[in-house]
Amino acid sequence: MMKTSDIENIEISLLLEGIFDVYGYDFREYAEASLKRRLTQWLHKTGFAGFSEAQAVVLRDRELFSDLLDGITVNVSEMFRDPQFFKAIREVVVPHLKTYPFIKIWVAGCAAGEEAYSLAILLCEEGLDGHYRIYATDINERVLQQAKEGVYPLERMRQFTHSYQTAGGKRDFADYYTARYDRAILSQKLKNNIVFASHNLTVDAGLGEMQTVLCRNLLIYFRPALKERVLTLFDGSLSNGGFLCLGMKETLSGRCISGGYKELARGTRIYRKQYA
Ligand SMILES: C[S@@+](CC[C@H](N)C(=O)[O-])C[C@H]1O[C@@H](n2cnc3c(N)ncnc32)[C@H](O)[C@@H]1O
Repeated sequence: MMKTSDIENIEISLLLEGIFDVYGYDFREYAEASLKRRLTQWLHKTGFAGFSEAQAVVLRDRELFSDLLDGITVNVSEMFRDPQFFKAIREVVVPHLKTYPFIKIWVAGCAAGEEAYSLAILLCEEGLDGHYRIYATDINERVLQQAKEGVYPLERMRQFTHSYQTAGGKRDFADYYTARYDRAILSQKLKNNIVFASHNLTVDAGLGEMQTVLCRNLLIYFRPALKERVLTLFDGSLSNGGFLCLGMKETLSGRCISGGYKELARGTRIYRKQYA
């Protein structure tokens, strides 16, 4: 007789197959352990007796599927997350970007917009306002809506301010938002150069001719084959001399495209695409 956990794994694979067939979202190549943990948490919250029972409803009810999507995706982010990364962008990457007449940047897996707005602040302070566009994409519509609004709990501003300063911020961070009750509303000026859009890295095509691609703290959730697919997508989306930025726990080393890239400085996780 099969163990309960093995049967549960089969039920999860069937659920993921069904989701792919019905909704076109492909979670089949996500790292197993964390996906199973999150699916199990979601299942307990819903009250279904098991994944098979949940599947019968999820495949027919789009709202329940959105809820499941929320459960699967980890949307944690911060403004100026890993301040040393943003410092390196400011000091090393921006001087190169300044040589282009217009800069296109793709922030893949942008969550509620924290990273895209951090970049917008930085580029504005470096005199690049009006010379760039940020394409910020995510699979999760709910967080994209939050990103478009650019409203965050006021209590988070303390930490964001600290990270902004550590990252070499040049102004008073409070210049970039208006406080209303317990919320901080980011200034409209920051939103003008950002396009927030839905995009799924597992199934959609890449974007063209970017000078920089950021995809931080997302590849860790993918299995090796999916990491390769996504990195190849980024490679095809970057112009020669462009920059690929990964999260602090992610690396290009050992990946198919790594031969065409050089890390700017060890440990920065900022890789420059070499001219052919
Ligand atoms: C942990 S957050 C990282 C946010 C930000 N990049 C950072 O480092 O702070 C990962 C984001 O990737 C998104 N995501 C997960 N799978 C995705 C996929 N297949 N395509 C696009 N975005 C995805 C999630 O919805 C989530 O918002």
